[in-house]
Amino acid sequence: MPKKIIVANWKMNPSTVDEAENLLDNVLQGINVGRNEVIICPPFLYLPRIKEALDYKEKEGVVLGAQNAYLQNKGAFTGEISPLMLKHVGVEYVILGHSERRKHFFETDQMINKKIKACLENGLKVVFCIGETDEEQVAGEKEKVLTQQIQKGLLDITDFKNIIVAYEPVWAIGTGNSCSIQETKNSVDFIRKLVNNKTRVLYGGSVNKDNAKEYVKEGKVDGFVVGGESLIPENFIHLVNSL
Ligand code: PGA
Repeated sequence: MPKKIIVANWKMNPSTVDEAENLLDNVLQGINVGRNEVIICPPFLYLPRIKEALDYKEKEGVVLGAQNAYLQNKGAFTGEISPLMLKHVGVEYVILGHSERRKHFFETDQMINKKIKACLENGLKVVFCIGETDEEQVAGEKEKVLTQQIQKGLLDITDFKNIIVAYEPVWAIGTGNSCSIQETKNSVDFIRKLVNNKTRVLYGGSVNKDNAKEYVKEGKVDGFVVGGESLIPENFIHLVNSL
C-alpha cells in the first residue's frame, strides 16, 4: 500500500507547552507509523520544544508542521511568522488555506497562493486545504468551489512535488458529521483530475479512530488531516495504527 500521510492539526491546543510535550510523548509511545508519515502541527509557540522532543525521541516517520505562515520572509508585519523562521526551527510542512483561516482571518485565495509560493521557496512542504461550505454544497456548487480554490490557490505554480492537497468540506470539520466515503471518493477523484494526479489528496473533517481505515480502503484517500481526534492520544494512536 502507498505511503499515507496523517497530519495532526492541534489548532490552538493544548494550553501549556508542558501539556503539549506530554501529548506528544503519549502519542509517540503508542504509534506505529510503519511506512507512513505523521506530521505534528502544534501552535507556533510550541514548535521549538516539540522539535527538540521529536529529535530526542528519534521516532522515524514523525515530523514537524506549522499551522500557518506569512507570505513574506521579513519586515514590518507585526505578529506574523515567516516561512524562513519556520524552516529555521525545523518545520517541514505548513498547513495553508485551512477553512478556519479563510473564515476567521479573511484569507483569500490570492493570499493563500502567495503563502504557498513563499513556503515552497523556503524549502517547506505545503498541505493546501480546500473545501466547500454547507451552503455551497446545498447550492450544488461544490465542484465550482473546488475548481476555483485549486486554480487560484495554485496559480503560477508548476512544481507540485512539495504540495499535498487536503479536501476538507467545511461542514464536516469539528462537527462529528464526516463526509460519506462515496462522496469523499468522488471529491478526491475530482481534485486529482484538477491537479493532473500530481499531488497526493488527503481528507479532513471529523476523521476518527473508527472511520479512518475505511476512507483509505474504499475512499482511496492518501491520508488525513486530523483535528479533534489528534488531541486524544489513545484515539490518535489507534487511528494511525489502523492504517
Ligand atoms: P476535525 O478537524 O478533525 O476536528 O474535524 C479537521 C481540521 O480542521 O483539519
